Amino acid sequence: MVERKIEVGISPSLMCGNSFLQGEYIQTLNKLEISWYHIDIMDGHFVPNIGLNLNFIRDLRKLTEKLIEVHLMCTAPLDWIEKLLALGVDAISFHIEASHAPIRCLNLIREKGALAGIALSPATPPERLDFLFDYLDYVTLMGVEPGFEGQNFLPQTFKKIERTRHLIKTHQSEIFIQVDGGVDLDIGKKLIDSGADILVGGVPTIFMDNDLKGNYEKFSSLFTTP
Ligand code: DX5
Ligand code: ZN
Repeated sequence: MVERKIEVGISPSLMCGNSFLQGEYIQTLNKLEISWYHIDIMDGHFVPNIGLNLNFIRDLRKLTEKLIEVHLMCTAPLDWIEKLLALGVDAISFHIEASHAPIRCLNLIREKGALAGIALSPATPPERLDFLFDYLDYVTLMGVEPGFEGQNFLPQTFKKIERTRHLIKTHQSEIFIQVDGGVDLDIGKKLIDSGADILVGGVPTIFMDNDLKGNYEKFSSLFTTP
């Protein structure tokens, strides 16, 4: 079984780019030191949008050896997990607001050697993670309501990261915190100071002016400069 490891850094969200340029994006991004690609999968019910799809993941898998992380925004996560694992994704996070059997979902993901995550919408308190720490590898804290790229960051997310960090410590857990949505350079710096490990890079960062390499370098230096 392949060993998958989470690394601190930037994760480009491919939904945020121009659909017709995806091949070029992958060529550019594959050469950079990104740890994983963030792929938004939506069903038009949990959120009023359709993101990328299973065929996109199938084709992406052929083009990269980097980790593929799926952010599942669907009302019935259990219906999607096996299909995604069969395509060779490395990590899946699903929304706690959408799952009636989160432990079953998390176990299923881990059984195949993939990394298991829970995503929390902005109004969902981090205490929803209680009783799940033993089954989790990472948590995705949404900085915007899920569904669309390019929205304004919700500042209460800072407090939520601190509360999540505190819970992680209390549970002596080692899970990673990923923040998704509305992150720009200034916000990214503050998120790292508040305890974020992974920042999803979308419209205001990675895809700005179509300069993916330059943007990535600027953005990832946030993790190395004090
Ligand atoms: C929102 C998605 C995000 C989004 C991020 O539902 O989960 O991954 O693509 O885009 P930005 O960074 O532009 O908010
Ligand atoms: Zn996402």
